[in-house]
Amino acid sequence: MWSSLFSGGSSAEKMLQESTFTVNGATVTVGNEVSVTTSLTSYLRETLKLTGTKLNCDEGTCGACIVVAKIQRPGATVKEMVSINSCLVPVHSCHGWEITTIEGVGNRLGYHEVQTKLAQNNGTQCGFCTPGFVMNMFSLVSDDKKPTMQQVEDSFGSNICRCTGYRPILEAYKEMASDAPPPHLKKQCADIEDIFKTCTKTGKPCAGDCKKIEPQSIKINLGAESWRKVIKIEDLFAAFAEIGQEKYKLVAGNTGEGIYRSQNVTVYIDIKDIPELSQVITTPVFTVGANKTLTEAIRVLKGQAGANGYAYLTEIAKHWEDIASLPIRNIGTLAGNLALKKEHPDFPSDVFTILEAVGAQLNILTGVNTRVKLTLPGFLNYNMSKKVIESVEFASLDQTYTLRTFHVLPRSQSFVSHVNAAFLIKVTSATSWDLAEAPRLVFGGIGAQFIHASATELLLKGKNLLDAAVVTQAISTLKGEVVPDQVKPGTSTDYRKKLAVGLFYKFLLGLDPDKVNPLYRSGADIITRPLSTSTLDYETNESVYPLNQPIPKIEALSQCSGEIEYINDIPERPGELHAALVLTKQSTGTIESYDTAAASGVPGFIAFYSAADLGDIPNTFTPSSVYPQFLDDEEIFCSGSVKYAGQPVGVIVASNRAAAVQAAELIDIKYKNVTKPLLDVMEIVRMTKERIVVSGKDKESEQLLKSAHKVQGKFAIGNQYPLYMENLSCIVVPNEDGFDVYSSTQWMDLDQNVVSRTVGVPATKVKVHVKRIGGGFGGKQSRSAILAAACSFAAKKHNKAVRLILPFTTNIETTSKRFAQRNEYEVGFDNSGKIEYAIINIYQDSGCSRNESPMGIFNAFFTSCYSLEGYKIQPHEIITNKASNGPVRGPGPIEGIAFHDEIMERIAKTLKKDPLEVKLLNMQTMDSPLPGLITELQRKADYAKRKQEVDAFNQSNRWKKRGIAITPMKYPFFLWNHLTSTVSIYQGDGSVSIAHGGIEMGQGLNTKVTQVAAHILGLPIDQISIKESNTITGANNNISGGSIISEGVSYATMKACQILLDRLAPVKATMENPTWLQLIRKAYDTNVNLTAQFLFSRDVPDVKNYNIWGVCISEVEVDLLTGERMISRVDLLEDVGQSLSPLIDIGQIEGAFVMGLGYWLSEQMDFDPDSGRLLQNRLWHYVAPGAKDIPVDFRVYLRKNAPNPLGVLGSKTTGEPAICMSVNVWFAIRNALEAARKDAGGQDVYFDMDHPATNEHIFQASLTDPSQFRL
Ligand SMILES: Cc1cc2nc3c(=O)[nH]c(=O)nc-3n(C[C@H](O)[C@H](O)[C@H](O)COP(=O)(O)OP(=O)(O)OC[C@H]3O[C@@H](n4cnc5c(N)ncnc54)[C@H](O)[C@@H]3O)c2cc1C
Ligand code: FES
Ligand code: FES
Repeated sequence: MWSSLFSGGSSAEKMLQESTFTVNGATVTVGNEVSVTTSLTSYLRETLKLTGTKLNCDEGTCGACIVVAKIQRPGATVKEMVSINSCLVPVHSCHGWEITTIEGVGNRLGYHEVQTKLAQNNGTQCGFCTPGFVMNMFSLVSDDKKPTMQQVEDSFGSNICRCTGYRPILEAYKEMASDAPPPHLKKQCADIEDIFKTCTKTGKPCAGDCKKIEPQSIKINLGAESWRKVIKIEDLFAAFAEIGQEKYKLVAGNTGEGIYRSQNVTVYIDIKDIPELSQVITTPVFTVGANKTLTEAIRVLKGQAGANGYAYLTEIAKHWEDIASLPIRNIGTLAGNLALKKEHPDFPSDVFTILEAVGAQLNILTGVNTRVKLTLPGFLNYNMSKKVIESVEFASLDQTYTLRTFHVLPRSQSFVSHVNAAFLIKVTSATSWDLAEAPRLVFGGIGAQFIHASATELLLKGKNLLDAAVVTQAISTLKGEVVPDQVKPGTSTDYRKKLAVGLFYKFLLGLDPDKVNPLYRSGADIITRPLSTSTLDYETNESVYPLNQPIPKIEALSQCSGEIEYINDIPERPGELHAALVLTKQSTGTIESYDTAAASGVPGFIAFYSAADLGDIPNTFTPSSVYPQFLDDEEIFCSGSVKYAGQPVGVIVASNRAAAVQAAELIDIKYKNVTKPLLDVMEIVRMTKERIVVSGKDKESEQLLKSAHKVQGKFAIGNQYPLYMENLSCIVVPNEDGFDVYSSTQWMDLDQNVVSRTVGVPATKVKVHVKRIGGGFGGKQSRSAILAAACSFAAKKHNKAVRLILPFTTNIETTSKRFAQRNEYEVGFDNSGKIEYAIINIYQDSGCSRNESPMGIFNAFFTSCYSLEGYKIQPHEIITNKASNGPVRGPGPIEGIAFHDEIMERIAKTLKKDPLEVKLLNMQTMDSPLPGLITELQRKADYAKRKQEVDAFNQSNRWKKRGIAITPMKYPFFLWNHLTSTVSIYQGDGSVSIAHGGIEMGQGLNTKVTQVAAHILGLPIDQISIKESNTITGANNNISGGSIISEGVSYATMKACQILLDRLAPVKATMENPTWLQLIRKAYDTNVNLTAQFLFSRDVPDVKNYNIWGVCISEVEVDLLTGERMISRVDLLEDVGQSLSPLIDIGQIEGAFVMGLGYWLSEQMDFDPDSGRLLQNRLWHYVAPGAKDIPVDFRVYLRKNAPNPLGVLGSKTTGEPAICMSVNVWFAIRNALEAARKDAGGQDVYFDMDHPATNEHIFQASLTDPSQFRL
């Protein structure tokens, strides 16, 4: 029947019922055994077992899933190798592609340069993001491409790394750029082809002909759904005719699914290989096929820009290079983007905005040979059912036209705009600013209906654009007519209104700089980030090598090749089942019942279990009877009374993950007594005492209320999601001995005990295994036990292995975030700025329980380098309707250090003093090297001169300001753990294995432990191997958290090695200069126990609590017309003692600092006031820093010649302290805004800035208002 659809018949005859492509050179065919929505990631991982490709966000935002595809574009003569987000690619759409995954790039038989470079440059930590970075770089240098350093740096907006802080990744890959300075420049691209593309027949590089798979029509029937690929327009319309009323979707790049998931589609029609939709015609009108990808479109626009009347295309191409990320642009198309705008009018499409501004027109095919031409707004109102956008026509615009476009993103790259704008004007002559016609002023991101600023366009028609009165009138008209829609989550209507006007003003300022007041001129420019640079300054002591030796991570190459295994990479056991958590969508009320009808209809659904099914099983994953650090028994599954939106109520068990996840969404929870959630700590303080716990010690103070000066204020900071790249994962396998638990946890002991209680067996029958986790940051301490409990319950019930891998949204909704805090204070001080008293009330948002709160140890942690003499600090824990908050990197000091510096800055402002003077005056100086370190860093950073330059810049620029600030740090380190290391020497060859009880989560624990063991035993590093952590060799180990793990496990390893050396000493004494192997053999023969274990605890005699010192100087630039900011330079000095491993420590410092930048600048978390649901519950909304958000010039200095007498082998910990110095950037921004507010006529007083310092909060704090806009 299908063949009758085609008039010509030719393609019908060739129609296939399966898609064929290659993966790493092997041909793969997929037919109706694979569902239509199966992504390439799922297929690679689950069917082909190529688990090097990772999954995190599942929406094109994190880059963990990037692979490379060699694609024959329609009409192109050669194939092109491009990076793609495999999570967005339906596997059926890969027909004809040659896919390379990380496994195809290189492995232990031979690594590729894109892998070795990253490993050598210490560009990996937890390694979960690493394959995505490798693959993106692989695409950049494939096909003999030679990117410049700038191109390399611009191309990583596609990838999120939470651990490294990006600097080493960018450095590694810039070394491969065509303009990299020698000696880094290396031969590159030819190698890529050599490694895996040598023809087995000819022995020469593969020409690609053998595997050439022609584009062909495909139809795959999959029950109620079908996948069709058409390669001719005729076939497309034939398919339209055949499908009747079925809901269809055209598939081009399918990247739109990353933003809006299609619902109820039954027919998918792949149109990306229809040549007519990708044609480029240059005359008479420049016309670009609508299904050109953004990457191709940018290329053809640049090519056409040299033609008469098309210079304006350069501006468009430049803007479109900022759309999404490289992998999205590589397959996402113009038509797809425009169709998204049509389907979701509030989508701030950059393509739509710009095409409308330049008056482009769309050709719409209404039939095989019939078409209509539409304007962009006309397209929005046109019925597109069974029609297709064929092409975009660009008019020729002579030199009297000027186009400028803008977009303002929440971070530097790869995020959809708050607002975008494109302005096109035509002047009467080259020397005049009189408008020959009405300008086209188009905005996106304002609202579903807003396109043109029509009133302003009308006003300006025929006017002189640089006439002062006209400008005033235009600004005021524009301000009046831009009325933004409310969006959730998103920025305020007020900000977007002023931003829109600010962008128009920017445009005016840039038209003719000579006619603009010099003070205002720089307002025309957007902040342009130069190429990043970095300096690492440290010394090493070769006499103790391999200790203190700067070596890359021992796992780095396996991480760069995807060879290492995370929980979800463990192969499935036969009959294994999959689970998914069902979450509440309300944060209050009582659960009445569950309607499971829809969920149970999902093919593959097996069961749903809720609290009622637990029976006698203790319903808690935080058993306070076992662990004193838990104050509340939080439920595994909510038994009735809802505590927060996102709380697990039960678990779905299904035959596959997709079914489990889908069914979990379909469980309909019926609630009663739903009330408005309590989300705001101050509202609770006003309303009720019930939810407030006054904790910590209420310090007595001499309140010298008669101080000469007194300030009162508040300091409110929000939540932060840990954003480890490996979402929480767990597999529980019932076996002859009980249960094996593979868990992404920082706390094996908790998982073991929770599973033991849940399945009702002794702890000895539960073995928890953790080889590594893909990041933790505190977020995997206790929450992993929810999964362990749910999964083990299901495993026991079905007597089968059960796997539970949380999707991103489930993970972020159900788990803990950094404690939000609001501090209210009154501080009295004398004329010099010396504090005489401080009364501080701290209100901590604990979430729904008090578990894991730092408040109990508050006085130790909420501290800083200043004397707290005369302070009265009163902590309050407030119970809210949010997920129980928990420790996230640096809990306690991050808040304390920021808060105390806030007070110092405020006093300085009040007294009109330099903040540093006030800080030094109030600093505890006994035993503190800080004054000296501050002076040292000021010198290194050329602080005094740069401060003058900042002041000079601010005086001569009204719309750009710079700020510079110094933040000192004292980070208290406390011993509190219980960690073992078991060291065994093998008599066969003398090699050594270590099984410790810590968790490697990217912090370089295994590398440090290896270096320590090698140092103590006097062996080369490759003789030592670290094994998995588990609850047999690592029984009773405590949490891997609080920065102590590397130190504690290193210490335990050192001691275990020393025990072994002590046992070997008498044997050695009987031998003459034996080799290591001879010694070990003899020891073995004489029955020496070659295994030793040591327990590290706070009782060890030679390691004590100590402080970590640091200083940071940051300089920033802010754009007062948009609120955007750039961190121009950071100098950071940290005291690491004598580092166990300097490169690892630098990695920890940089990574922690950049994670802190996210906290202070962009990672806003809001909760729906009605349901209490987290609004930023997708990575699409959660603004973590990207590669171009880090300091442009990042200089890290390790304090020299300062071994730590209280630490392990002279070292200090590095995992957390540096996050506390990132607040320095916040203060630098404040500093810049001081100057802005002065210019804006604001009062010269300390001002409050909302946390985090997003574009909107910076903009609002700058007091910028359109009424100030003049030329
Ligand atoms: C992470 C991410 C970041 C992004 N950032 C930005 C951004 O900053 N700015 C911006 O503007 N956009 C952004 N986008 C949107 C992106 O540009 C679009 O996803 C992409 O262009 C869609 O093209 P596609 O080929 O993948 O469309 P698909 O996903 O394949 O299709 C999308 C829709 O278009 C329809 N369609 C496709 N081709 C045609 C045709 N020829 N005729 C009629 N209908 C058609 C389909 O039926 C479908 O409804 C982002 C997307 C992602 C995932
Ligand atoms: S998993 Fe594909 S981009 Fe995040
Ligand atoms: S190394 Fe990048 S996320 Fe961990």
